[in-house]
Amino acid sequence: MKSKASAPGKVILFGEHFVVYGVKAILCAINKRITVTAEKIEGKKISIKSNIGNLELETGKLISEINSPLKPFYYLADKMLKNENTGIEIIVESDIPLGVGLGSSSACCVAGAAAISRLFRKTSKEEILTLAIEAEKTIFKNTSGADCTVCTYGGIMNYDKENGFHKIESEPNFHLVIANSNIEHSTESIVEDVREFKENDEAGFSSLCKKESKLVEDVLELLKENDIKKLGTKIKENQEYLETIGISNEKLREMIQIGQTESFGAKITGAGGGGCIYALTDESNLKQTINQFKDKNYDCFSVKIDFKGLDTF
Ligand code: PMV
Repeated sequence: MKSKASAPGKVILFGEHFVVYGVKAILCAINKRITVTAEKIEGKKISIKSNIGNLELETGKLISEINSPLKPFYYLADKMLKNENTGIEIIVESDIPLGVGLGSSSACCVAGAAAISRLFRKTSKEEILTLAIEAEKTIFKNTSGADCTVCTYGGIMNYDKENGFHKIESEPNFHLVIANSNIEHSTESIVEDVREFKENDEAGFSSLCKKESKLVEDVLELLKENDIKKLGTKIKENQEYLETIGISNEKLREMIQIGQTESFGAKITGAGGGGCIYALTDESNLKQTINQFKDKNYDCFSVKIDFKGLDTF
């Protein structure tokens, strides 16, 4: 018997970095997915096949001894195989670019947790999310769980450290054009750079956090009203704050400038230093925005919000 599940990637719309210091962030799931197929096989082994490589190991290994980006799958399979006399084969298919802040690892963990656990029993979305966050901690031990949460439930969500997650019920109909700098970034080291920025200028950073908090509250209202032009203004403002804390660079600035020529606004999404930017568009300026990037040979694609989240087959 095969068990199959898919989960969407995500973008951070507003609030990255400031969220680490208690400000609300807004995330949304995007209609690019990772699909995981799991099947029991003979022998006490776990075999994982993906477009970033393969991993095949006996069951019962220590997670700390595995050096592979595929280890969340091993963790999940090994956990489920306790007291079982079989192995598991896992096949991962992705249409989310990897390692550029679009939630590929969270989508892997969510789809993996669903496909693998459902080989043994019916699991609820809540149980799957708990398993997915445990698995994600094998590669990013300080994860807030925000990415896995939005990949599980889909739609738009706000998150802050004190109050956790809150699903936003509005269903805005915009398109995001995502352009990839193809510079891989290390979230941990950029978060560390921002901590240094804060330590060097506590008052300036605290004032930026207040401005960002106000901006996010304004955005929550604008999302209800579906006011795309004003949302674009907020995107530009948020990008200025991200510039101030030093997570941008020349290439990202150039991409944002290109993105803003036709769209309502463009900003970095995620940790910065590389990764992706997004530009907010609707039907009136979607094609023009894509063409602006293509003309300059940037890798880009458009997405809409995914309202489905985790899907099991
Ligand atoms: O690039 P990503 O998706 O890993 O985003 C990181 C978001 C930060 O706010 C920079 C860090 C965090 O843990 O929230």
